[in-house]
Amino acid sequence: MRSFRVELGTNSHEVHVGAGLIGELGRLAIRASLAPGKCVLVTDSNVGGRYAAAATEALRGAGFAPVLIEIAPGEASKSAATLGDLYDRMTSAEIDRSGTVFALGGGVVGDLAGFAAASYLRGIAVVQIPTTVVAQVDSALGGKTGINHPRAKNLIGAFHQPRLIVADVNTLSTLPDREFREGIAEVIKYGAIMDAAMLSDLERDLARILTRDPMVLEAMVARSLAHKASVVSADEREGGLRKILNFGHTIGHALEASAGYGAWLHGEAVAIGMVAAARLSERHAGLSADESSRLSTLISDAGLPTGLPRGAGNREFLNALKLDKKRAQGMVEFILLDRIGHALPIRLSFEQILAVFA
Ligand SMILES: NC(=O)c1ccc[n+]([C@@H]2O[C@H](COP(=O)([O-])OP(=O)(O)OC[C@H]3O[C@@H](n4cnc5c(N)ncnc54)[C@H](O)[C@@H]3O)[C@@H](O)[C@H]2O)c1
Ligand SMILES: [Zn+2]
Repeated sequence: MRSFRVELGTNSHEVHVGAGLIGELGRLAIRASLAPGKCVLVTDSNVGGRYAAAATEALRGAGFAPVLIEIAPGEASKSAATLGDLYDRMTSAEIDRSGTVFALGGGVVGDLAGFAAASYLRGIAVVQIPTTVVAQVDSALGGKTGINHPRAKNLIGAFHQPRLIVADVNTLSTLPDREFREGIAEVIKYGAIMDAAMLSDLERDLARILTRDPMVLEAMVARSLAHKASVVSADEREGGLRKILNFGHTIGHALEASAGYGAWLHGEAVAIGMVAAARLSERHAGLSADESSRLSTLISDAGLPTGLPRGAGNREFLNALKLDKKRAQGMVEFILLDRIGHALPIRLSFEQILAVFA
């Protein structure tokens, strides 16, 4: 098990990463000063069938009395309707201010249950128990919670830091292959923007990562979360530094929007976005051609897409980029690399961006 503390003043909390940690959940929750007794365990039906029994048993063993709430899997559950159901179930379970929401699942469960905890009784404790790569290396840490609005993703939400994060890498063994690989895109991102040694280690360990060797996964998840923690500690509410985490995301988001949400998994769109951002970095930030192709080779070896799909320059894609452009007075702020392991924001004109797709 690897443990560290996320330093956020009064919101500081522990993170534990390891194999089999769901079995330790109750003990770790008590150690984090969470009050035993009534609480809810929120999960989705894919995850619940596999891991809710072990989580419940571990919680009971430490004096918690969890009520299980299982939601339907998928992004559609990040809705006002499902949130309303959660409030109903929490009220019926008579959860009071000392109650805790245990969020067991991927980013959908984490964001939804996190927001329920942020808003119920003006805020009760949440423990994140992420079970996807995306959730273990990214969404569980940082305190962003929320639901979608029919008109926009993540429109309704709040910052609400977890009291504890418990990432059991054994759960990743049952994740479908495509979802597993998508998460690796975010891992590669941390190496690209802030840790050249990590990128080398990923190149060396990639085969063992893809066969989901728990020892290698433990190191990978802990290192990713430690990087995210250092950025979030320095910039809890996304004022400046936290923007570097958007490497690959400007083009990634435009791709997701233009292809219709669901056609690309987020991590796949980000993989393509990182390759495009590396090319922009060669032209506008001094990244060497060698380093740029090292990054695209790693992305491709991880089984992720690297090339803009045919028709990527279509009108929806351009419109999605233009939306970003409006926000920044005629320029789009891009996160680029001047070398592997170091990122910086650079403003580019629309024309400079489009040149990379020519
Ligand atoms: N809060 C943040 O900072 C942040 C950051 C990134 C993403 N997100 C959000 O996270 C969501 C995406 O998260 P995700 O990629 O984890 O998706 P997800 O929660 O939908 O999980 C993906 C699929 O895998 C299944 N699953 C989860 N764990 C499993 C396991 N161990 N074994 C088998 N199946 C399992 C789920 O049921 C689901 O079908 C999006 O809504 C996104 O907006 C939030
Ligand atoms: Zn992302």
